[in-house]
Amino acid sequence: MQDFNEQTHLAEALGRLEGASDPRLREVVAALTRHLFAFVQEVEPSEEEWLQGITFLTEVGQKCDEVRQEYILLSDILGVTMLVDYLNHGRAEGGTESSVLGPFYRAGAPACANGASMARESGGEPVLVAGRVFDSSGRPIAGAKLDVWQTAPNGMYEGQDPAQPPFNLRGVFSTDDDGRYAIRTVKPVSYSIPDDGPAGRLLRALGRHSYRPAHIHFIVSAEGYEPVITQLFTDDDECLDSDAVFGVKESLVIHYERAQDGDGSRVSYDFHLTEAA
Ligand code: BEZ
Ligand code: FE
Repeated sequence: MQDFNEQTHLAEALGRLEGASDPRLREVVAALTRHLFAFVQEVEPSEEEWLQGITFLTEVGQKCDEVRQEYILLSDILGVTMLVDYLNHGRAEGGTESSVLGPFYRAGAPACANGASMARESGGEPVLVAGRVFDSSGRPIAGAKLDVWQTAPNGMYEGQDPAQPPFNLRGVFSTDDDGRYAIRTVKPVSYSIPDDGPAGRLLRALGRHSYRPAHIHFIVSAEGYEPVITQLFTDDDECLDSDAVFGVKESLVIHYERAQDGDGSRVSYDFHLTEAA
């Protein structure tokens, strides 16, 4: 039996992991233990603060159900989701940069012909988003899929708002033989992430807002290529530098050009996919 102090206690806690049969689990829990110990030593929480932390994490769990994932939201607002995304996808040379998936993706959106509108009700400023999908050597990819979704002009996704028609502002587009796509939609608006739970409370306590700058979500995929989950952000949005979930990257900011014929705006954007590993 050794003296109990910060060093012997850490060594003892790490030593207890030696029986783990999965080496990756052992590595992960060892790192977690080392970092948690360092965190607690830096912060030196009072017992009240420790209990406050436990209560907060309990409330995060209690807010979760089949559709609401408060832990992911917490990870988003702390910047962890974008860090995990960067470590997994951020170093592929030549590909379109990625961003968070978010909780509002819905699989099974209707297939849309090139040039068709995914706005299934009226309202909003009409936009034509068009461009091409290329491989990393600049060759166009035919038959690439673009799974697209965004908020309505009221700042709500179709799944959050029973007043919207099913699959409003969602659609799956495919590139033609020249790798071209064309999406008719409406200009997206900035909106608040769900802020009625502990993650929202934490944002307010930190003096942060809960808004995301206006964006359109994309999953771009093609056989033989790594799919990219990303978003295109409107360049005139006030929240561009303070996105609640840190999702903005410079290469993903786009300009809405007023159409010559006065009918809404146009956006031009090319995607680049890297070959599957
Ligand atoms: C979104 O862009 O849909 C989103 C991303 C993270 C948290 C909440 C919403
Ligand atoms: Fe979004």
